[in-house]
Amino acid sequence: MNYSIETNPLETLKSDCLIVGIYSNQQLSSAAKIIDDATNGLLTSIVARDDIAGNIDDTLLLNVIPNSAIKRVLLVGLGKQKPLTAKNYRKVIAAAINAVKKLRFTSVVVSLTDCDVEKVDVTWKTRQIVEVFDDAVYQFTVCKTKPVDELMLTNVAITTHEYQASEAKIGLAQGLAIAEGVAFAKHLADLPANICTPTFLAQQALALSGNFDTLDTTILDVADMEKLGMGSLLAVARGSLEPAKLIILEYRGGDKNSKPIVLIGKGLTFDSGGISLKDGAGMDEMKYDMCGGAAVLGTLQAAAQLNLPLNIVGLVPASENMPDGCANKPGDILTSMSGKTIEVLNTDAEGRLILCDTLTYAKRFQPEVVIDLATLTGAVLVALGRVPSGLLGNDDALCNDLIAASETANDSVWRLPLWEEYQEQLKSNFADLANIGGKDAGTITAACFLANFAEDFRWAHLDIAGTAWRTGVTKGATGRPVPLLTQYLLNRANA
Ligand code: BES
Ligand code: MN
Ligand code: ZN
Repeated sequence: MNYSIETNPLETLKSDCLIVGIYSNQQLSSAAKIIDDATNGLLTSIVARDDIAGNIDDTLLLNVIPNSAIKRVLLVGLGKQKPLTAKNYRKVIAAAINAVKKLRFTSVVVSLTDCDVEKVDVTWKTRQIVEVFDDAVYQFTVCKTKPVDELMLTNVAITTHEYQASEAKIGLAQGLAIAEGVAFAKHLADLPANICTPTFLAQQALALSGNFDTLDTTILDVADMEKLGMGSLLAVARGSLEPAKLIILEYRGGDKNSKPIVLIGKGLTFDSGGISLKDGAGMDEMKYDMCGGAAVLGTLQAAAQLNLPLNIVGLVPASENMPDGCANKPGDILTSMSGKTIEVLNTDAEGRLILCDTLTYAKRFQPEVVIDLATLTGAVLVALGRVPSGLLGNDDALCNDLIAASETANDSVWRLPLWEEYQEQLKSNFADLANIGGKDAGTITAACFLANFAEDFRWAHLDIAGTAWRTGVTKGATGRPVPLLTQYLLNRANA
């Protein structure tokens, strides 16, 4: 879709539909007032008839506008006449795009930056329109042979006052970068595991860096990883016919000497559980076990598109976790790249096994901070459901920065403790540590395992098993936490 910023008077704009807000006390927004004046009080009369209550989620399409050049108006409820919360503002935008996306409009004008929203500016409001619109029109179609409901909408004009146009344009650029990063991550994640293999992910990273002078990709193959002593990562891959890859993306937008932010994404392209095989029900969703890796690619794309003045390294360990005669077995003891030995008590706790060697590898970049994102535990769904991602880390300032970014980005996180008491649960009789910590506090013990490999730098871990995709009838990837990470990077760039 093409988005533009429009500063000309609303009533003069040509489009298939003008989108304006009204409050639940029948008050018109300032944009709605302009349209009301231009249509001889049409909106006032419709509202007086009680045809729309004006609550959040309400919409009403006026598809005949007598004696006017305006073709159609979509009224969207804004709720009570007071500043909207950020969440409600996004709901309003979602209601608007959901009301028009099935209609055969090719162009709309969105006037919703005129709403008052708590604690935000026009940049933020513009950005949300782009993000929410793009999210709502995303479709995964590449594997369908019959035509799907084709989106007709191609042009979205976002109106602002002239004096706010430059702020809105910044919001537009940020919104596009985030929305495109999200769409890229969603697409990779929605692809089935027979297409999206470790090799395919590596090719996607190479193709991505081909689009930007500032971005380089290096792929380590199994032999390279053997030389590095990545015994833990390679053990996970051993049961699969697909060779493992370690994808290294290097974005150089900052000073030569400025230390990079390292993002590590779990790229497990299919998690069967291995010899500790998972239940059959819902196992298809384990194609999503590479959502962390996909989000790293999406975030680097966004950073490169925005030309952020930072150095960023993306690391994606990519592998399948499958059972066969070569596979990792419960009781096996692995030697990780760090030298620490690991007793594999459950082959389904494989994410931490590929991440630990990647964390050790991250040290060579002398990172400013390291953030890993992984669909790591089912336990995070028990603890937090599908609303926030779990956040754990060894550095309060980094965790607080991520919490602040998550609030701006509407991509929530909730911090869980990473106290040393939990390390007890990872003791092994035979090796330096076990790869599982028993049934209590599964998300925390998984992060505690990783913490053993992140002792030399500031590190945070995002458990995205509850947030990276939706299950049920709307099954599909969400692209989270691309918005959060991009906001974190934007904040770093502005610091
Ligand atoms: N990829 C899964 C985590 C997962 C499970 C994400 C369900 C989303 C839904 C991970 O590799 C895994 O299997 N974790 C195990 C760990 C356990 C064996 C300690 C889990 O959560 O069951
Ligand atoms: Mn697993
Ligand atoms: Zn997994």
